[in-house]
Amino acid sequence: MLKKNIALYVTGGIAAYKSVILLRELIKLNLEVQVVMTSNATKFVTPLTFSTLSKKQVLFDYNLNSAGVDHVELAQWTDLAIIAPATANFIGKMANGIADDFASTSLMAIKNEKKYVFPAMNDEMLNNPVTQRNIQRLKDDNMQIFNSEYGFLAEGYKANGRMMEPQKIINTLFYQNNELSGKKILITAGGTREKIDPVRFIGNNSSGKMGYALADYANEQGADVTLISANSKLEKINGVTTIDVETSDELYNEISNNFANCDVLIMSAAVSDFKPQKYTDQKIKKDKNINSINIELEKTNDILKYFGTHKNNNQIVVGFAAETNDILKNAEKKLKEKNVDMLVLNDVSKKNIGFNSDDNKVTILFKNQDYVETEVMKKTEIAKVILEQLKKIS
Ligand code: CTP
Repeated sequence: MLKKNIALYVTGGIAAYKSVILLRELIKLNLEVQVVMTSNATKFVTPLTFSTLSKKQVLFDYNLNSAGVDHVELAQWTDLAIIAPATANFIGKMANGIADDFASTSLMAIKNEKKYVFPAMNDEMLNNPVTQRNIQRLKDDNMQIFNSEYGFLAEGYKANGRMMEPQKIINTLFYQNNELSGKKILITAGGTREKIDPVRFIGNNSSGKMGYALADYANEQGADVTLISANSKLEKINGVTTIDVETSDELYNEISNNFANCDVLIMSAAVSDFKPQKYTDQKIKKDKNINSINIELEKTNDILKYFGTHKNNNQIVVGFAAETNDILKNAEKKLKEKNVDMLVLNDVSKKNIGFNSDDNKVTILFKNQDYVETEVMKKTEIAKVILEQLKKIS
């Protein structure tokens, strides 16, 4: 661990309760933590909670009996200052040089490179140009400002503005060597639907569980995750940007919009291989004189193959394969033809695992003909195995 003395600044927002968990995680890493609170923060969480966990008195005001200059001493002691949660008001003070309490004064005496700011506030406050201007100013002044996350706000609706989760803060700050930290990972999940008429489609049974488990773990590991979700009913994941799509064409378009900017593409979505040649915009009726109808299908884009063969040398593309027979041989062929770096093979002939289930068993194939086989495991565990393997080839 490089940094030893951590000053944890807690300012007055509801997310202050998360900083208790953050403090506990910092202590687990054997770091010395001095908590500083603004007086508004003490209305959300009592200083006793923080002082008990840090085994140090919380600083929130000047000690009038002290012979030294407390705020400067703290600044000299600090290797790294974490401001979490950082409210709109506190960010405004930092951006404009206002030092009117112990927290803001001591921070002023700390070098900006040592400051890591984790905003948390209502989405309207966050989107306000004044806040955005202040955030930009902190960046211009060499402070590290991290995006707040999407999820449930105290106001009872979902929007941007939540403080980054404590475990992710820890990963971001202390595991920079973690190969996923800061990586931009694009993941597809679910199954596409190709529309026949306004009420019918060609679809598949994919629930999205595998892709969501991958997104969840990658996010926890500090990656910057965008999830393109095809018709999945699963809950959105805090901290993951989710784009909903329906058809394979929409999936292709959204990947196109995001691919140039990503380090890794993981194609876990089940993409339909065919779509109706034409969409009938009125419901197809059953005519009493006709016993059968034909729907002409045409091939969809092979999305994985397209991006596998158009990636640059620094990008990694991971594919999936669903096979029922000659599974290894077919998977090896797919790996080559689609030019992917890693291929996750599912044997879909097995009952109770794979599609729509919580469990799965996979074989992961690599370009150099190595492969790794898992037991039957929860998809959340399979996701970890896949991403740990990805780290090895990143
Ligand atoms: N895939 C894709 N575009 C398609 C079809 C599949 O990007 N039109 C991707 C899937 O997301 C998966 C991989 O290709 O990562 C393999 O999918 P799979 O269904 O196993 O194979 P197919 O390429 O469709 O070939 P086949 O159906 O003949 O096995």
